[in-house]
Amino acid sequence: MIVCHCHVVSDRDISSAIDDGVQEVCALASVCGAASDCGGCLPTVRQLLAERGCPPDLQVTVRTIRERLGLPPARTDRRAPVPAA
Ligand code: FES
Repeated sequence: MIVCHCHVVSDRDISSAIDDGVQEVCALASVCGAASDCGGCLPTVRQLLAERGCPPDLQVTVRTIRERLGLPPARTDRRAPVPAA
Protein backbone atom coordinates (compact mmCIF):
# COMPACT_ATOMS: atom_id res chain seq x y z
CA MET A 1 0.00 0.00 0.00
CA ILE A 2 1.32 3.43 -0.90
CA VAL A 3 1.52 5.56 2.24
CA CYS A 4 3.23 8.68 0.87
CA HIS A 5 1.91 9.68 -2.52
CA CYS A 6 4.24 12.67 -2.82
CA HIS A 7 7.30 10.43 -2.72
CA VAL A 8 5.71 7.08 -3.65
CA VAL A 9 6.66 5.36 -0.41
CA SER A 10 4.88 2.16 0.58
CA ASP A 11 4.26 0.63 3.98
CA ARG A 12 6.81 -2.00 3.01
CA ASP A 13 9.41 0.71 2.32
CA ILE A 14 8.74 2.17 5.76
CA SER A 15 8.89 -1.24 7.40
CA SER A 16 12.19 -1.91 5.66
CA ALA A 17 13.59 1.43 6.85
CA ILE A 18 12.55 0.59 10.42
CA ASP A 19 14.26 -2.81 10.05
CA ASP A 20 17.38 -0.89 9.00
CA GLY A 21 17.32 1.17 12.19
CA VAL A 22 15.10 4.18 11.48
CA GLN A 23 13.18 5.00 14.66
CA GLU A 24 11.68 8.44 14.17
CA VAL A 25 9.78 10.48 11.61
CA CYS A 26 12.58 12.87 10.70
CA ALA A 27 15.04 10.06 10.08
CA LEU A 28 12.47 8.30 7.94
CA ALA A 29 11.92 11.48 5.94
CA SER A 30 15.64 11.76 5.32
CA VAL A 31 15.77 8.17 4.05
CA CYS A 32 12.75 8.10 1.75
CA GLY A 33 11.09 11.54 1.79
CA ALA A 34 7.89 10.37 3.45
CA ALA A 35 6.13 13.09 5.47
CA SER A 36 8.39 15.82 4.11
CA ASP A 37 6.09 17.46 1.57
CA CYS A 38 2.31 17.85 1.94
CA GLY A 39 2.24 15.96 5.24
CA GLY A 40 -0.85 13.98 4.32
CA CYS A 41 0.95 10.76 5.19
CA LEU A 42 2.32 11.98 8.52
CA PRO A 43 -0.42 10.36 10.67
CA THR A 44 0.06 7.01 8.93
CA VAL A 45 3.83 7.29 9.17
CA ARG A 46 3.50 7.95 12.90
CA GLN A 47 1.15 5.00 13.25
CA LEU A 48 3.50 2.63 11.40
CA LEU A 49 6.43 3.75 13.56
CA ALA A 50 4.36 3.38 16.75
CA GLU A 51 3.25 -0.12 15.75
CA ARG A 52 6.93 -1.06 15.69
CA GLY A 53 7.61 0.48 19.11
CA CYS A 54 9.13 3.74 17.91
CA PRO A 55 8.27 7.06 19.60
CA PRO A 56 5.29 8.83 17.99
CA ASP A 57 7.09 12.20 17.53
CA LEU A 58 3.84 14.10 18.05
CA GLN A 59 5.66 17.45 18.10
CA VAL A 60 7.15 16.93 14.64
CA THR A 61 5.48 18.72 11.75
CA VAL A 62 6.31 18.95 8.06
CA ARG A 63 7.83 22.33 8.78
CA THR A 64 10.18 20.98 11.47
CA ILE A 65 11.07 17.98 9.34
CA ARG A 66 12.01 20.24 6.43
CA GLU A 67 13.97 22.56 8.71
CA ARG A 68 15.92 19.64 10.20
CA LEU A 69 16.66 18.27 6.74
CA GLY A 70 17.74 21.69 5.45
CA LEU A 71 14.94 21.81 2.90
CA PRO A 72 13.10 25.00 1.87
CA PRO A 73 9.49 25.43 3.02
CA ALA A 74 7.09 23.05 1.31
CA ARG A 75 4.97 24.49 -1.48
CA THR A 76 1.92 23.51 0.52
CA ASP A 77 3.12 25.17 3.73
CA ARG A 78 1.16 28.38 3.57
CA ARG A 79 2.48 29.55 6.92
CA ALA A 80 5.95 30.08 5.56
CA PRO A 81 7.04 32.39 2.76
CA VAL A 82 8.22 30.54 -0.32
CA PRO A 83 11.55 31.87 -1.57
CA ALA A 84 11.55 33.32 -5.08
CA ALA A 85 12.89 30.90 -7.67
S1 FES B 1 1.73 12.18 1.00
FE1 FES B 1 3.61 12.06 2.09
S2 FES B 1 4.39 14.09 2.05
FE2 FES B 1 2.60 14.17 0.81
